[in-house]
Amino acid sequence: MSTSSKIWLSLAHMSGKEQQFIQEAFDTNWVVPLGPNVDGFEKDLTEYLGENKHIVALSAGTAAIHLGLLQLGVGPGDYVICQSFTFSATANPIKYLGAEPVFVDSERDTWNISPTLLERAIKDIIEITGKKPKAIMPVHLYGMPARMDKIMNIASKYGIPVLEDAAEALGSKYKGKYCGTYGDFACLSFNGNKMITTSGGGALVCKTAEAAAKTKFYATQARDNAPHYQHSEIGYNYRMSNICAGIGRGQMFVLDEHIRRRRENNALYRKLLKDLPGISILDNPSDDFESNHWLTCILVDSEKFGFTREDLRLKMEAENIETRPLWKPMHLQPVFAGTPFYTYDEADESYSKYSKVDENGVQLGVCGELFEKGLCLPSGPLVTAEDVQKIVDVFSHMNKR
Ligand SMILES: Cc1ncc(COP(=O)(O)O)c(C=O)c1O
Repeated sequence: MSTSSKIWLSLAHMSGKEQQFIQEAFDTNWVVPLGPNVDGFEKDLTEYLGENKHIVALSAGTAAIHLGLLQLGVGPGDYVICQSFTFSATANPIKYLGAEPVFVDSERDTWNISPTLLERAIKDIIEITGKKPKAIMPVHLYGMPARMDKIMNIASKYGIPVLEDAAEALGSKYKGKYCGTYGDFACLSFNGNKMITTSGGGALVCKTAEAAAKTKFYATQARDNAPHYQHSEIGYNYRMSNICAGIGRGQMFVLDEHIRRRRENNALYRKLLKDLPGISILDNPSDDFESNHWLTCILVDSEKFGFTREDLRLKMEAENIETRPLWKPMHLQPVFAGTPFYTYDEADESYSKYSKVDENGVQLGVCGELFEKGLCLPSGPLVTAEDVQKIVDVFSHMNKR
């Protein structure tokens, strides 16, 4: 993809070592979905995250979520609690397994699942169905850690496992510990626009060597231990290719640089936009949070700024700058129409006019409000200080009119 004069949202950036690992794979004929690059990439990730985790490289982050939920025993008739404010890849695997999602609204400061509403949803599900939800899925959206201490406390109080969606949060920390190391499982994504890429790919972070072995088993068509091909369970073709893993090994050399560059850009946006009326930026709520700032996200208060988020997006597009609305919450997606959604009521601090219903009778909630007002700004490692200045100039110019 050419980067010419357009400023892109989040482009991949190579260390230069990727091709050496790929060449090695060709030279040794490891052009298959296993081999030294897959082992090496898994080792690199395991060393990076620490906490005695066991990591399995897969074909996608979505595949990781699928195999995580599968191992938590999620199946038909089960309920899985999922943050509504996310990309559809978080929720879709719940449906692959025949289970039902229950969506929960976000906190105003982290934009991630509200622990208060999470507990409300758990109590309700137990009361109504007589059984516990099978799993809880918090998401570290845009790299911002979810409030994992509270979430894990609630999870252990009710004895419900947690699968963290850390697809966007490689390198982010909460209370000094990496996102993706709190739950029973966690998914990582190495899609083209993520913190590091394998072109397409993901990984499942497991707590035990047994869970990692089981993940590999399911990811390679659930082949039994026999000389012929024998299967006692349904399997999947989800393993990462040794070529893609070669890209991943090369990318590990620049992971820290990518985090530094995205954080620098975020700080620069914050500095340059701070006096602009009606524009606010998602920021770490306290020192407990260390976002990788995968994407810098803003909220546009149209009354104060004079233009809506969509006006701003179109203006940026006309200036050859790629921006993107925030994720549309799952409870507002047509495909999940009718799915339960837990949001605030008048008694809650976060209740606002957005806690009312939309034209379809669906409550928007805090995440619906964020979706209406929010925009992601170009944030990748290739975005320069001059680019950020050019983007900020568009804001300033609009604001003066
Ligand atoms: C929050 C979130 N979850 C899951 C995924 C799925 O990852 P993948 O695209 O590798 O399947 C993504 C990224 O695409 C994501 O942003």
